[in-house]
Amino acid sequence: DLANYGISPTHGFLPDVLPLTRLPDPYYNKWEAIAANLQALILSKRLRGVIDRLPVLSTIGLEHDAEWRRAYVLLSFMAHGYIWGGDSPSDRLPPSISVPLLKVSEHLEVPPVATYAAVCLWNFKPLFMDEDIDNLENLASLCTFTGGIDESWFYLVSVAMEARGAPIVPLMLRAIAAAREDDAKAVTSCLSTFAERLDDLTTLLVRMHESCDPNIFYNRIRPFLAGSKNMGEAGLPNGVIYEDGTGTETYRQYAGGSNAQSSLIQFFDIVLGITHRPTGEKPTKERGREGHAPAPKHNFIMEMRQYMPGPHARFLQDVQGVANIREYVEQNKDNKSLSVAYDACLSMLRALRDKHIAIVTRYIVLPSREVRARSRSRSPEVARRKVNLATASRQQPQGIAYDARGAAATAQKAADDGKKSALKGTGGTALISFLKQARDETGEPAIEEW
Ligand code: HEM
Ligand code: ALA
Repeated sequence: DLANYGISPTHGFLPDVLPLTRLPDPYYNKWEAIAANLQALILSKRLRGVIDRLPVLSTIGLEHDAEWRRAYVLLSFMAHGYIWGGDSPSDRLPPSISVPLLKVSEHLEVPPVATYAAVCLWNFKPLFMDEDIDNLENLASLCTFTGGIDESWFYLVSVAMEARGAPIVPLMLRAIAAAREDDAKAVTSCLSTFAERLDDLTTLLVRMHESCDPNIFYNRIRPFLAGSKNMGEAGLPNGVIYEDGTGTETYRQYAGGSNAQSSLIQFFDIVLGITHRPTGEKPTKERGREGHAPAPKHNFIMEMRQYMPGPHARFLQDVQGVANIREYVEQNKDNKSLSVAYDACLSMLRALRDKHIAIVTRYIVLPSREVRARSRSRSPEVARRKVNLATASRQQPQGIAYDARGAAATAQKAADDGKKSALKGTGGTALISFLKQARDETGEPAIEEW
């Protein structure tokens, strides 16, 4: 039963009960007030002072899961605002955040950082209650770091995709049952519907370009989503200390927010029998040719399951145990329409990953080059030579990284100071090479080609 895994038959991994827009108990007004003013507090660099003076509130006033989720959203936004919203990143979180955040995360079975659940799954509201939430025109984000539409849009594209993709979950569970009963017709029909829906999801994904500007994303939004694990460029190589007042705390390291934490996309891979190898590892066939297997590396996509709400991760684990579609299609190779429907799913998922790679190029790779080029031209001797250009540079549009007031400039500055630091995703991967491998693995089991 999907409900046992916290999954809604209509909303999928989005909660059945809409996210709360504020905590009902006035005891939590202080949290709500900070979250409501987060942008202004970050801009004025007063957030840390406010949080340092905030009392440690108890979680005792939280009742329903929707309240725990709201508390998690508030606290994780405050935590990332605190860490990344100053002149340099803070490697400590004061007890006013860390004590309740650790409690809430434990209750919800999520890590105590801004995960995909915090910024997307549990952080939206419909504008009109009588309209669907798979419609981008009917969504708003609850919490943001910047208060800007680009940031909301960045989160909401994912929300709409989760909603649009939700019916695929029961659909493909039916397909698994149908394969078990050797009902090829039913499996084929489910796969065809799945392929069409995947195409819809790609259409939604590319709408990112409509209202999320790449430079704003890269320089203003993304720094707040950074992690403290495998992301040295961001400036927290040791991790963060979650102070609890005991003085015995040690550094904790967590990956930053990433859509790799979406259970929906991982569900697609699992039902289609797509396996993702550790980054850099080649398919078994090729490995054989090379003579010896490389040392096992960690598998990022699997690791990201620890960043999903516990019940969702357990769901994926259990589906993995019963997934049989690929096997079924292989055993029925002579069934042309079945193979065609299966291959259509693979190519649609591959197409989605292709569009995603193009997005990452435009939203991360290109803006990062621009920032690096600019920081080079800022070096003293170059600056002296270019003194005449000072007027011109003052006319630069806002939203660029070295605007000293932008809190987002902080992490970027740390990145530039990190000299030859390799570009990393907020999740900590090597970006494009990782994503290309994931895309190529999507194509691998193509049965038609065998
Ligand atoms: C992974 C960037 C939007 C789905 C990643 C990674 C990056 C990235 C850098 C690598 C993991 C990491 O180190 O963080 C972006 C950017 C986006 C964007 C810049 C928009 C501006 C989306 C959206 C989706 C998505 C809307 C919704 C489906 C994924 C998935 C992965 C991933 C599923 C895991 C890799 C895979 O399964 O192929 N993204 N992403 N991303 N992203 Fe995005
Ligand atoms: N994972 C995305 C990035 O690296 C958000 O920017």
